[in-house]
Amino acid sequence: TSALNKLIFLNNCSVLSFHKGLASKLPEEKELITNYSNMFLKKVPTDLTPTTTTLDLSYNLLFQVQNSDFHSLSKLKTLILCHNRIQQLDIKIFELNQELRYLDLSYNRLKTVTWYLLAGLRHLDLSFNDFDTVPICEEIGNMSHLEVLGLSGAKIQKSDFQKIAHLHLNTVLLGLRTLSYYEEGSLPILNTTELHIVLPRNTNFWVLLHDGLKTSKILEMTNIDCKSQCVRHETQQNLILKNAKTSILLFNKVDLLWDDLLLIFQFVWHTSVEYFQIQNITFGGNVYLDRNSFDYSNTVMKAIKLEYVHFRIFNIPQDRMYLLFTNMNIENLTISDAQMPHMLFPNYPVSFRYLNLANNILTDDLFKKPTQLPYLKTLILEGNKLETLSLVSSFVNSTPLMHLDLSQNLLQHNKDENCFWPETLITMNLSSNKFADSVFRCLPRSVQILDLNNNQIQTVPRESIHLKSLRELNIAFNFLTDLPGCSHFSRLSVLNIEMNFILSPSLDFFQSCQEVKILHAGRNPFRCTCELRDFIQLEKYSEGMMIGWSDSYICEYPLNLKGTRLKDVDLPELSCNTALLVVTIVAIMTILGVTMAFCYLRLDLLWYLRMLVQWAQTWHRVRRTAQEQLKSNVQFHAFISYSEHDSLWVKNELIPNLEKEDGSVLICLPERNFDPGKSIAENIISCIERSYKSIFVLSPNFVQSEWCHYELYFAQHTVFHERADRILLISLEPVPLYCIPTRFHELKALMEKKACLEWPKDRCKCGLFWANLRASINVNLSDTGEVCELQTFSELNEESRGSTISLIRTDCL
Ligand SMILES: *[C@@H]1O[C@H](CO)[C@@H](O)[C@H](O)[C@H]1NC(C)=O
Ligand SMILES: *[C@@H]1O[C@H](CO)[C@@H](O)[C@H](O)[C@H]1NC(C)=O
Ligand SMILES: *[C@@H]1O[C@H](CO)[C@@H](O)[C@H](O)[C@H]1NC(C)=O
Ligand SMILES: *[C@@H]1O[C@H](CO)[C@@H](O)[C@H](O)[C@H]1NC(C)=O
Ligand SMILES: *[C@@H]1O[C@H](CO)[C@@H](O)[C@H](O)[C@H]1NC(C)=O
Repeated sequence: TSALNKLIFLNNCSVLSFHKGLASKLPEEKELITNYSNMFLKKVPTDLTPTTTTLDLSYNLLFQVQNSDFHSLSKLKTLILCHNRIQQLDIKIFELNQELRYLDLSYNRLKTVTWYLLAGLRHLDLSFNDFDTVPICEEIGNMSHLEVLGLSGAKIQKSDFQKIAHLHLNTVLLGLRTLSYYEEGSLPILNTTELHIVLPRNTNFWVLLHDGLKTSKILEMTNIDCKSQCVRHETQQNLILKNAKTSILLFNKVDLLWDDLLLIFQFVWHTSVEYFQIQNITFGGNVYLDRNSFDYSNTVMKAIKLEYVHFRIFNIPQDRMYLLFTNMNIENLTISDAQMPHMLFPNYPVSFRYLNLANNILTDDLFKKPTQLPYLKTLILEGNKLETLSLVSSFVNSTPLMHLDLSQNLLQHNKDENCFWPETLITMNLSSNKFADSVFRCLPRSVQILDLNNNQIQTVPRESIHLKSLRELNIAFNFLTDLPGCSHFSRLSVLNIEMNFILSPSLDFFQSCQEVKILHAGRNPFRCTCELRDFIQLEKYSEGMMIGWSDSYICEYPLNLKGTRLKDVDLPELSCNTALLVVTIVAIMTILGVTMAFCYLRLDLLWYLRMLVQWAQTWHRVRRTAQEQLKSNVQFHAFISYSEHDSLWVKNELIPNLEKEDGSVLICLPERNFDPGKSIAENIISCIERSYKSIFVLSPNFVQSEWCHYELYFAQHTVFHERADRILLISLEPVPLYCIPTRFHELKALMEKKACLEWPKDRCKCGLFWANLRASINVNLSDTGEVCELQTFSELNEESRGSTISLIRTDCL
């Protein structure tokens, strides 16, 4: 059929055959196209690029072309000059265009051409010009590469064609504006595969048809208007044509009476034509001839195609027309786009293998009469007004039908009706009908390719018959809310469910449809929640399976995700899997609980917490305590008071730990910093006043034996109450309030007001205790000459270790 397609080139200046003929032959060379088409040019532009290979000057007003116009274009291969007003031409002007292969001069006003041999020319089109005689001369005869030749002329005679008889042409186009004289037998002189004649008015169609059929394998005739062209003379019609060569006969733009058509068919029937196609045919007029007069015998005809049929007058007897065609013993029959309301078949077996009645107005009446189509393989009833699927099934039941196209009808299937399909049926096109879910009850088991696109299907019923052979299923543009499972279509490999109402495809599909290789599921209103997670995962695991990913797969719901591509939606496993979520939360809670319990039971968590709170408070306070608050007479970081019973602890634990860090902590101890000249109480008070903090190591012994020294002092120095933060209480052993003698009011008050630092029984907690304690007494004593003191401290320490008590003097302070 590529040869057929090629014949559309009439009004477009042969552009089609140009592409086919030339562009493909020289693919490597660089093409430079200069297009001046439709620019109202009166002259060929002078500023043409010399390297131009294709120059299009069509649809202009050129009336003359000269030597100088093209001589600089040495690379020119294609020159299109059609649809201009050129009247005469000297081909010699292309003398320097040695590369010229394609020259289109059609649709000009050429009357004379002066010839010159362009040996390389392959395509020369002189059709639709005003030549008197066909412009053929010796030079054309010497263009041995010529493949396509377009000609015109008012007179056609044998002697003209004789000059090119030896050329083996591919296509000859006779584009005639007028034809005043045709010498019979001229055309058959040509040797060409294809002959295309565009008929002018007032020609003898029959003569040209006769000669055309004797000329080429493919004959196309355009503009057949029988009102002026089909002069009847019986002798010619009934003649059996000898030496016919044509096997493909194409008529285009035909206007005739039914009787003329019958005559043409009858004539062609007995020629060599195997394929006869008529496109754009208009009928008119009355019918006189009887169908019985059609002689079906003695033919090689295999296929007939009538396309785009219009009726000017509708008094053609329908039955006769239908039966004319269905009685033909041919393989293929197409009558499409013909407004045909009905079709009749003879009541004996007919030989059609391919029957195409697309785009008519056929109704269920078509199936009323039993027909016998024992060879039918393909039936196309697309674009009609059929309504009942079961009737179609009965109609084709006794045929070996393989391909059935019922698309674009009004078909439905009623549950109660039974369908009987032939077991040979493998492709079915049921698209664009009115089918609901019940259509699945009326499908042949053998079907492999099923198109149910654009119907009203809501679900694929579970109980539907098992379509074991089904490989391709198209249910796009329906009302499905979920993917169909494949339990009934075990061999399904291509599935199209675009444009349905699928919010979240169910898991069943993924489990049952293992064979599916291609899935079109885009353009559905996806709800991008956790349910869609498996679907998105499926895409990841099966690269390339989902056609249109990711642009066609867009969330519709929830509203905040509308318009987001599924690819970009984040649905983490944890938030989607409820069980997993619960397990995770429970696990975390359990671990937390166990840890807490463990801390509480084994590590004395409460004690730690209290310690931490105190430490934090201390830090806070220390920060707040501005340096200036310290009196200049503060010389020690701390004064420690304790009972003799606890002295072991104080000396072995407390002091080493406080002084541990680089010795920067200075401590005033009663026994080592005491002035023998003063009383105990005076010494104590002096120590307290010279220390930043006063630490009391509380124990029952301390309360009993030592506190009496302080009670009086605290009672007198109210200042101390205001700055209670200078006192630190360490409880070495718990001292219950009730054990404190009633006379020690100040101690009671202190203990109620201040929290004690508890000395932990557990050694491993001591670190925190010391840290806490050090933080409490940590103050910068630099104002009081710390540097000097430090030196002193370390020097003295060197000299006599062991008796630090007396040595830690504060000389420099
Ligand atoms: C030049 O342009 C016209 C439309 O403007 C187009 O139809 C024609 O094919 C172009 N010619 C070539 C050789 O590309
Ligand atoms: C055409 O070719 C023939 C033989 O090759 C030659 O004799 C004749 O002169 C040529 N004609 C022209 C016009 O070139
Ligand atoms: C026509 O041309 C073909 C090659 O294209 C050739 O085989 C055939 O013999 C030619 N026919 C005549 C009658 O010259
Ligand atoms: C008939 O139609 C079938 C299917 O389109 C095609 O393959 C075959 O070539 C046709 N036969 C003729 C003679 O045109
Ligand atoms: C079914 O017919 C429609 C037109 O009616 C066409 O677009 C579609 O491609 C056909 N389907 C198949 C599977 O051939």
